[in-house]
Amino acid sequence: MSTIDPAFPALHGRPDQGWINDPNGCVYVDSVHHVFFQYNPDAPVHGNVHWGHATSTDLVRWTQQPIALFPRQGAADAAGAWSGVVALDGDVPTAYYSGIAETEHDSQVMTATSDRNLIEWKQEQHGIIGMPEEPGIGDVRDPFLFTFDGRQYAIQGAGYKDGTPLILLYRCHTMTDWEYLGPLVTGGSGVAAEWAPAQIWECPQLFEVDGQWILMLSLWNRDDHALDRVTYLTGELSEGGVGLKFLPTGGGLVDHGPDFYAPQVVAGTAAEPRTLMWAWSWEKSRSDADVLASGWAGVLTYARSLAFRDGVLRSEPVTEVKTLRAGVLFGGLPDGTGSFSVPVAERAFEVVSGGGAELVLLDGGAETVVATLGAGRILVDGSLVEAFVDGGPATTVRAYPMETSHFEVRATGAVTVHRLAL
Ligand code: FRU
Repeated sequence: MSTIDPAFPALHGRPDQGWINDPNGCVYVDSVHHVFFQYNPDAPVHGNVHWGHATSTDLVRWTQQPIALFPRQGAADAAGAWSGVVALDGDVPTAYYSGIAETEHDSQVMTATSDRNLIEWKQEQHGIIGMPEEPGIGDVRDPFLFTFDGRQYAIQGAGYKDGTPLILLYRCHTMTDWEYLGPLVTGGSGVAAEWAPAQIWECPQLFEVDGQWILMLSLWNRDDHALDRVTYLTGELSEGGVGLKFLPTGGGLVDHGPDFYAPQVVAGTAAEPRTLMWAWSWEKSRSDADVLASGWAGVLTYARSLAFRDGVLRSEPVTEVKTLRAGVLFGGLPDGTGSFSVPVAERAFEVVSGGGAELVLLDGGAETVVATLGAGRILVDGSLVEAFVDGGPATTVRAYPMETSHFEVRATGAVTVHRLAL
């Protein structure tokens, strides 16, 4: 490309070209944060999925690394290395991912290992476990590992052929010797059906934050353009049932925007006590022709930290995002109201609102209200807009500036607009 696409994110590191979707294998090893992601290097469309890789020591400045995992002709991942996680098997960084041989209706959990740099990976030829032998189950994918009461377990997202979603539970006798125990929870009725209606639950994340077990689910709905939104179930996890039992007690939306999917959550550890989350923001509202012309599709959100407060799961950008502030573009007006124009050349900026702000994208006569909030922050990077109400919901939405566009911040209270830069 001769000119920079103003919609391309300047700070949310991603390869210059090609397609990305879900964050995978998010892990903190030897003071380095690693984020892998579903990646088609050849075209801005989903297909021939690899694992791309980026690293950071501060969660905001990312370095793109060589491709980590490849689809391999003749192997069980020939048609794609789909989503999964990275965990340490003893001392050995190990990726657990969905190998797709031919169609997404037949997947295996595949593994790959690396040294502690996580740069070069050796993919195993055979999977560690295939589809369960229950004939009613149609799709299975996205392994996720967790411990309960000192024991290692795994889950996968799944869907019955009749259109009911479920989570498959595995006991990990070792990190590579898994036994299928049965469904941990199904979505046909009750609280799970109310909060997480779907045909397939993709990318399940099961973790405890602030003393609450959360099952986060990406809702795959055939009727609603396949991928829908991300919700969570609160629940009680206990011994029983097929091995463990998850009893849903309530739920909520993880992000209130239309462009947020397939988050990955990393439970806190001694070295990184925060519960961190990244998600994929797609190009659903950009035309296919514009996506093809741009050569790129997909971006990952800023790293967010999760908290469970007053019965609700909240996310906010990690505090390190504030280190991107690189000068004030506009300070609050004396009477606290007014509007500021932000040229598209700024690419990345942050609106900090004390009393009320609206972000509007203007092009010629056309005007689109992108985000509105009272007290909170709106982070803009190219076409990616992430808004956070103080102590309230997060909203991820896309808005596509062109060379001729500009953003406007309309303030009804004290507002500061910061330039953001690496
Ligand atoms: C979610 C998802 C996963 C799958 C991956 C394939 O967006 O559909 O279920 O593993 O993407 O790229």
